[in-house]
Amino acid sequence: MLRLTAGAAAGAALPMAGLTGCSSDSSTETATPLDPAEPDPSITPIPLPIPEMLVGSVINLEMRPGQRELIRDKMTPTKGYNGDYLGPTLFLRSGTDVSLNVTNNIGVSTTTHWHGMHVPALMDGGPHQRIEPGDVWTPSFPVLNRAATYWYHPHPHAGLGQGVIFDPMSTGYQVYEGLAGMIIVEDGTSDALPLPRTYGEDDIPLILQDRRFHDDGALLHFPTDFDPTRDPALRKGGHFLVNGVEAPFLEVGAQVVRLRILNASNARIYNLGFSDDRTFFQVASDGGFLRAPVPLSRLLLSPAERAEILVDFGSDQGTTLKLRSFNRNLGTSLVPFPLQDAWDTADFDLLDITVGPARSNAVLTIPAGLTTIDPIPEAEAVNLASARPFELAANPFGINGKRMDMNVIDDRIRLGDTEVWEITNPTTQAHPFHVHGDSFQVLTRNGFTPPENELGWKDVVLVRPFETVRIVKRFHDYADSVNPYMFHCHILEHEDVGMMGQFVVEDGAP
Ligand code: C2O
Ligand code: CU
Ligand code: CU
Repeated sequence: MLRLTAGAAAGAALPMAGLTGCSSDSSTETATPLDPAEPDPSITPIPLPIPEMLVGSVINLEMRPGQRELIRDKMTPTKGYNGDYLGPTLFLRSGTDVSLNVTNNIGVSTTTHWHGMHVPALMDGGPHQRIEPGDVWTPSFPVLNRAATYWYHPHPHAGLGQGVIFDPMSTGYQVYEGLAGMIIVEDGTSDALPLPRTYGEDDIPLILQDRRFHDDGALLHFPTDFDPTRDPALRKGGHFLVNGVEAPFLEVGAQVVRLRILNASNARIYNLGFSDDRTFFQVASDGGFLRAPVPLSRLLLSPAERAEILVDFGSDQGTTLKLRSFNRNLGTSLVPFPLQDAWDTADFDLLDITVGPARSNAVLTIPAGLTTIDPIPEAEAVNLASARPFELAANPFGINGKRMDMNVIDDRIRLGDTEVWEITNPTTQAHPFHVHGDSFQVLTRNGFTPPENELGWKDVVLVRPFETVRIVKRFHDYADSVNPYMFHCHILEHEDVGMMGQFVVEDGAP
């Protein structure tokens, strides 16, 4: 399998490879993006698998090794929750209590984080809530989130500097092997909306991931001649998996269909749309419904972001179309030349969609409105005059000039406060910035109001090259002066090498 080990580059003190240097294409893979007009005939479509749904107040998850045919005719050694690859979709009801038993049978230290969930720091599953091999972690919490699509994944921090990205105990490594799953929260708001809600039928989870493989089918984390001082230290590939299958097909009815899209890729940004360029409607962002469906023909989705969209197939019976990523025209707007692979600037297909007859109980219209979102007033922030700064810099690599240190609390926040955070990106590469603890709202991008589909609840915001993004966040409900929450870039290799920091929410005067 992977020849590079934790020791291979440990101690290398160079700045994050590729961010400043140039690179050559050293991938052992021969890969040319498909011309979207000419699907690869060697790939026979197989049906989109729908992850099993887990409901109830007690949820058991076992992290374990397995193997799976991710690409046709090759078996890939993988890891998964309760299975070979990915994990079940957890259905949580807002206002109820949930307890989880997470068993680590993957043989290395790990954690499991409830991404986007508003939970106490000790239950968050960040790098400090380690689960040693053979152990069971038993968090429990009341579900306080709004109805939306969240997810779970390992979040260990190996802390070996540059070498950490090769470590089997790193987040990027473990997620790449398959450890991730979706969480769907429902509440009174979602109950009342006339939206498609039959899981797997008209309410479809789509977990997007890109992978590279060795010839024998094993996952290729990095090419064997990978040199972190020269090559982009990112796990990206030209095999695109949806729910763990390359180029699957989905049969839908001639009706309105809801797609819950999760970008669970380590580093890939998708610019989603359909092969016929149709308009679709975004109804939810990371942490809740939008005010009203937002018509779009392209949807940019960076690592860890979620979007729920409605697609009206009502007059499409008998047709086929594709969910496609239109990356051809992105140029260097998000990923600069030395870090690009072929698919950062090519269009590629993710999913074939075939439209059959409408099912019974079909939803046939797109609702005009969804919910009310009360904007968090900027004036509510205790630090409006001097927003808390987060600079995502490449040299030195990290946030505010520091790399993640498990023993350092970077920020202390007072329970009950509302704060404005100002995230700046002086690099030529876009960074998806994520904050644990609870959703936030985006105030401005470079001083301007963000687009309509970013005016809801978010927990990841893509900060483009040379951009400044201001967010506003409430720190409510949970205080713990010892156990921190994380903030970090959700490009997992960036997080692993230290583009991450920690904050605590404290009760009482700071
Ligand atoms: Cu998706 Cu800190 O995580
Ligand atoms: Cu998170
Ligand atoms: Cu980053």
